[in-house]
Amino acid sequence: MKKSIGIIGAGNIAKAVAKHFLKAGYPVILSSRKEPAALQNTIELLGKGAIAGTPKEAAQANVVLLALPWSQLSSLTTLTDWRQKIVIDATNHFTPEHQLADLNGRASSEVVADYVPGAYVVKAFNTLYANVLQADPQDAGGKRVLFISGDNVSAKKAIANIIEVLGFSAVDLGSLAIESKLQQIGGPLAVLNLIEK
Ligand SMILES: NC(=O)c1ccc[n+]([C@@H]2O[C@H](COP(=O)([O-])OP(=O)(O)OC[C@H]3O[C@@H](n4cnc5c(N)ncnc54)[C@H](OP(=O)(O)O)[C@@H]3O)[C@@H](O)[C@H]2O)c1
Repeated sequence: MKKSIGIIGAGNIAKAVAKHFLKAGYPVILSSRKEPAALQNTIELLGKGAIAGTPKEAAQANVVLLALPWSQLSSLTTLTDWRQKIVIDATNHFTPEHQLADLNGRASSEVVADYVPGAYVVKAFNTLYANVLQADPQDAGGKRVLFISGDNVSAKKAIANIIEVLGFSAVDLGSLAIESKLQQIGGPLAVLNLIEK
């Protein structure tokens, strides 16, 4: 049996990605600031393999997907010992006022990495609108492209492998500090819906 993937968040992106994980046989734990019982409808809609938990419980998984608002990143740090976990960063750096946050020239995932100390951060699942992301990755005679960036080669390989198992094409751009800027919001690859033929 495949290992559970923890998801911090239970909204549009969490549900879109969870749907693909479940289809490929990865159990998921969705979480939010609400009591897990409040996610019951979401869990039922997602079907077998999905459970609700607290963010602390979701953060126990070896692979944790961040699908929460940028303004909530500071809640992550005390959830668990993040060292050596793989953290998939699907966030975009919007403020609650829908402006881009000032990153002082850093890549958004470098900022995220500060909140999950010691984790291997891989940026992925952030470039497509949720309604596009949730659709069948086999499209127009090819596979939908998902970009990934990160500094740990093994973690990136693991996430690229999962992405391919889900039916997408994983395109590794490079490092967090430099190339992840291409895929973060405001970068040239954000929102591009590409099909590899
Ligand atoms: N929507 C898109 O098309 C899209 C595309 C690419 C990337 N993104 C990025 O993905 C992230 C999620 O976006 P979304 O559209 O899925 O947002 P959303 O639908 O508003 O969902 C956000 C989820 O996070 C939960 N949440 C908020 N604060 C939390 C906390 N401190 N701990 C745990 N869970 C928390 C919310 O539940 P509670 O409020 O009940 O806690 C909710 O379930 C954002 O960073 C966004 O920029 C979105």
